[in-house]
Amino acid sequence: MLGQLLHLHGIDSVIVENRSQPYVIERVRAGVLEQATVDLLHEVGLGERLAREGMRHEGVYLAFNGTRHRINMAELTGGRAITVYGQNEVVKDLIAARVQTARPLHFEVAGVSVRDLEGSHPAIEYTAGGERHQIDCDFVAGCDGFHGVCRTTIPAGHLQLYERTYPFAWLGILANAAPSSEELVYSLHDNGFALFSMRSAQVTRLYLQCAPDEDIHQWPDDRIWAELKTRLRTDDGWGPNEGPITQKAVTPMRSVVAEPMRYRRLFLAGDAAHIVPPTGAKGLNLAVADVWRLSNALAAYYGSRSESLLDDYSDQGLRRTWRAQRFSWWMTSMLHKSASDNPFDHKRQLAELDYVVHSRAAMTSLAENYVGVPLG
Ligand code: PHB
Repeated sequence: MLGQLLHLHGIDSVIVENRSQPYVIERVRAGVLEQATVDLLHEVGLGERLAREGMRHEGVYLAFNGTRHRINMAELTGGRAITVYGQNEVVKDLIAARVQTARPLHFEVAGVSVRDLEGSHPAIEYTAGGERHQIDCDFVAGCDGFHGVCRTTIPAGHLQLYERTYPFAWLGILANAAPSSEELVYSLHDNGFALFSMRSAQVTRLYLQCAPDEDIHQWPDDRIWAELKTRLRTDDGWGPNEGPITQKAVTPMRSVVAEPMRYRRLFLAGDAAHIVPPTGAKGLNLAVADVWRLSNALAAYYGSRSESLLDDYSDQGLRRTWRAQRFSWWMTSMLHKSASDNPFDHKRQLAELDYVVHSRAAMTSLAENYVGVPLG
């Protein structure tokens, strides 16, 4: 996305990626795009397939005590909504756009390192095709995820990490089954959290709260379906449709923020700077907001040698990040069973859910954060 935004500003960039193209296109990730992300994809010329295949959802369900409650997000936020469209589909569209521009995009590079951050010309080194390469840069954008090299290149003492690890994870599956609800269902059950989502009219995406070190081999398909049905089924008879499971994986959950999001000419964006638990569906959307700000700051720099937006990049990003952290933490705590919770905590969670689905003020708070705040 940063490459596309810079291209539209007429700024050169080189993208290096250590995975292969099929890997990044096929790897199943989250699938909820905020309104601002959808608007931006349209603005940068990537809205065509999204408009055709993306599923706009104006509401979301919270289920507890055997009942599903719909929150009408569009009505509460002046017409804003989310769109369900797989992150890997966005990646596919971005790669196609990059290839069209004929600007460099290198997959399967190895041994990436960032050098000379102290001067005005940092460099990136990498190995490809058996040869060592060097890119001399004005700026480096660290869009390389939490385990990437960029953040760890920043000298110790310049970065503060804020972190919370949750005592659970999500077991996620894709199933060839028609979604039985038109909108997502977030559910709290005595056995723990479950989430009903989808990818298309034929594919359902489902998640179950599990242990952080859960062994996926202990979860044959029948056990997954039995547990999903137990946790999701509501008193009106609603539940997920069953179908062949095509993919399953365990996702750990944590919240991390690195401050600041910049060191000299290196700018961290997305998961390189912050991780959110998936409950608020904010990860991809925060990354998009980061690179949108970064592209504007770089355009101002090259346009008028103004560094003020570059100087604001981290503070603005941290403000948005902490807002998303708070929301994701709140959704996570409201909807998961924790071993350290006692019966009081469980009753308090149910009271919180009851408040959220019955108070217009509370549901507006959820809705405006879920559809996301505008960029800028
Ligand atoms: C998904 O569809 O993968 C999904 C939906 C909502 C979330 C997280 C993941 O909060």
